[in-house]
Amino acid sequence: MRILVTGSAGFIGFHLVKKLLLRDDTEIVGIDNISSYYDVNLKYARLQESGISKDDISPDKATVSSLHPNYCFYQIDISDYERLYRLFSEYNFDYVINMAAQAGVRYSIDHPGEYIQSNVVGFMNILECCRHHKVKHLVYASSSSVYGNSKQVPFSEQDNTDYPASLYAATKKSNELLAHSYSHLFQLPSTGVRLFTVYGPWGRPDMAPILFAKAIYEDQPIRVFNHGDLSRDFTYIDDIVNGIIGLLPQAPGKKTEHPYYQVFNIGNSKPVHLMDFIAILEQSIGKKAVCQMLPMQAGDLHITYADTSRLQEYIQYAPKVSIQEGIPLFIDWFNDYMMK
Ligand SMILES: NC(=O)c1ccc[n+]([C@@H]2O[C@H](COP(=O)([O-])OP(=O)(O)OC[C@H]3O[C@@H](n4cnc5c(N)ncnc54)[C@H](O)[C@@H]3O)[C@@H](O)[C@H]2O)c1
Repeated sequence: MRILVTGSAGFIGFHLVKKLLLRDDTEIVGIDNISSYYDVNLKYARLQESGISKDDISPDKATVSSLHPNYCFYQIDISDYERLYRLFSEYNFDYVINMAAQAGVRYSIDHPGEYIQSNVVGFMNILECCRHHKVKHLVYASSSSVYGNSKQVPFSEQDNTDYPASLYAATKKSNELLAHSYSHLFQLPSTGVRLFTVYGPWGRPDMAPILFAKAIYEDQPIRVFNHGDLSRDFTYIDDIVNGIIGLLPQAPGKKTEHPYYQVFNIGNSKPVHLMDFIAILEQSIGKKAVCQMLPMQAGDLHITYADTSRLQEYIQYAPKVSIQEGIPLFIDWFNDYMMK
């Protein structure tokens, strides 16, 4: 079985590759453009963890992992259709997991073009390549942000998602719409996963866990928006990875509710109030935070809260890692990697 994982130098893509490599029957190709949205050294360090050395990376030649002979990596941008098409022709992937995207809600306010390029043009290229190479199942990252500022919680897949509160969310909603049209027109089996605030080791430095932990260690104030009155359905990386890998063999077919198309929430279903989250971080670090209370930020949501009953029914999904267990695991990694 051959799987393409895009965004494999990113937080979630890296963990997906790591888990998929535990299977003997699987050959993985990873691609990433190694964008400079955040420190590229973290991306190279994740690749190094998977046996891909920075000095060997190329867009045209496969860099084979020194640890896993069944994993190879290319530096490819998914918005480069010709290069992507050649890759698909060379490998004939059975499955594609698309995690490559310009992430981040706040950055999208001032950098809309980067989101259109990677998340819309790039995603469209993924769809075209999957269509022409008869991929058995495309699983792609959508986001809890598609629910906008919905007052109705928990968020269920049946809820209206027509009112995105940021351009980032609008591009994720576009992914679902584009995927639907390809599933409908070309019988391309596709599954969108609406991910809820993912955290854990090797996480993203633009997200609260790393920003806050760093500030606490350095005695700097942490910026607490909406005066702390926000809640997030923090979901540990292993639960997200298990949800995505559990869905991979479950390609939607002609008998599904929308033939060949489906979307699922993957979350923890236990929203945590921001001030409680900070308290757990303080406890794990053993130090108090200095909080700078600020008003609500443009594009932000008050609460995210996943209803995961559909996924539970479909693949017996059950998140296992509570925030009380997950944060200390994250801090262990933070101490090992970020404090060096
Ligand atoms: N982390 C979360 O909490 C979260 C929540 C909801 C959805 N998501 C989505 O999950 C996916 C993975 O997120 P992540 O947290 O791992 O982010 P990440 O930024 O760590 O990983 C994304 C990777 O994609 C790469 N990339 C960006 N544009 C690309 C392009 N045009 N071509 C090739 N590679 C490109 C980046 O270099 C990066 O390494 C993204 O689609 C993101 O929008 C993440």
